[in-house]
Amino acid sequence: MKAMIVRECGSLENLKLETIADPIAADDGVVVDIHSCAVNFADSLMVEGTYQIKPPLPFSPGLEVAGTISEVGKDVTDWQVGDRVQALSNWGGFAEKVAVPAHVLFAIPDHMPYDDAAAFVITYSTSHVALDYRAQLKKDEWLVVNGAGGGVGLTAVEIGKLLGAKVIATAGCDEKLAVAKNKGADFTINYNREDIREKIKEYTGGKGANVVFDPVGGDVFRQSLRAIAPEGRMIIIGFASGDIPQVLTNHLLVKNIDVIGFYWGTYKTYKRHIMENSVAQLFEWYKEGKISPHINAVFPLEKTAEAIYTLKNRKSVGKVIVKI
Ligand SMILES: NC(=O)c1ccc[n+]([C@@H]2O[C@H](COP(=O)([O-])OP(=O)(O)OC[C@H]3O[C@@H](n4cnc5c(N)ncnc54)[C@H](OP(=O)(O)O)[C@@H]3O)[C@@H](O)[C@H]2O)c1
Repeated sequence: MKAMIVRECGSLENLKLETIADPIAADDGVVVDIHSCAVNFADSLMVEGTYQIKPPLPFSPGLEVAGTISEVGKDVTDWQVGDRVQALSNWGGFAEKVAVPAHVLFAIPDHMPYDDAAAFVITYSTSHVALDYRAQLKKDEWLVVNGAGGGVGLTAVEIGKLLGAKVIATAGCDEKLAVAKNKGADFTINYNREDIREKIKEYTGGKGANVVFDPVGGDVFRQSLRAIAPEGRMIIIGFASGDIPQVLTNHLLVKNIDVIGFYWGTYKTYKRHIMENSVAQLFEWYKEGKISPHINAVFPLEKTAEAIYTLKNRKSVGKVIVKI
């Protein structure tokens, strides 16, 4: 099969198209013929060798795919050849096939296109579990979503609206903010030319944000932390800016603020029902037309490095897909 392979960690130039042996299903696993693989921020970190998961070399990145099952291991009883699935592959997704354990599969709705299915689970479920379960976002609360034009940011805007919040989207360019507005954001802030703290205070009538969803870190995090209402919650999703902010605990004390860590991958094993219930709910909302992934660009397999660069260089809005 064809696969984009990294033989040495480093720049994205190290990602090369190769022909390698087809994978074989383990007894408790399946082989998925991949139709689409989503690009995630983690792909670029994995190629660099700086991500928390370090696959053994050589490897193909690509951690969420959609396709059809082409082979089933002898101990697998609940999946069949031909089933349409989404798989959390961890890596190996920028390839024609991937072997995965059966427990990382989700059945996808009948009419859901493979591009939508590949773009769906990680971003939507990250936003959903973070806002609903960890931050306990309530109807009519003020939610600020930072990096609202990015993968998890844009889904957080949609989920925030579905949970009944009033949403303020922040981003570094007007094109991304226009898409966030289309997805339901009530107000927008361009943090390259507007003061986040001042604008949040203005939009909330001086109250401040009840919840801040932050995948960006750095100054965007620091400024929005200063615009949180008493008993507000700051939920830490990631550090796309590359700047991991430090928090002064006396500021939390005087304003009764919670700073909440969140890593969605934890729920693949720990309290797994939280992830399963979230994905089931999200597929229902998709079928009802309440949410739909915003796919910004689709690249062929041999242009995977370009696809990852698009994300890394802040050129993408929503999701980028590699079509196999
Ligand atoms: N905690 C979890 O479970 C979880 C799950 C998924 C993702 N994440 C993390 O969340 C973060 C965002 O992921 P994503 O998939 O949404 O990525 P993305 O689509 O690239 O979005 C990131 C956004 O961050 C903003 N940004 C600000 N400074 C940036 C910089 N120096 N470089 C790149 N982007 C910058 C960009 O918006 P502007 O250009 O508008 O500033 C961009 O749209 C990553 O750190 C990722 O690892 C965490």
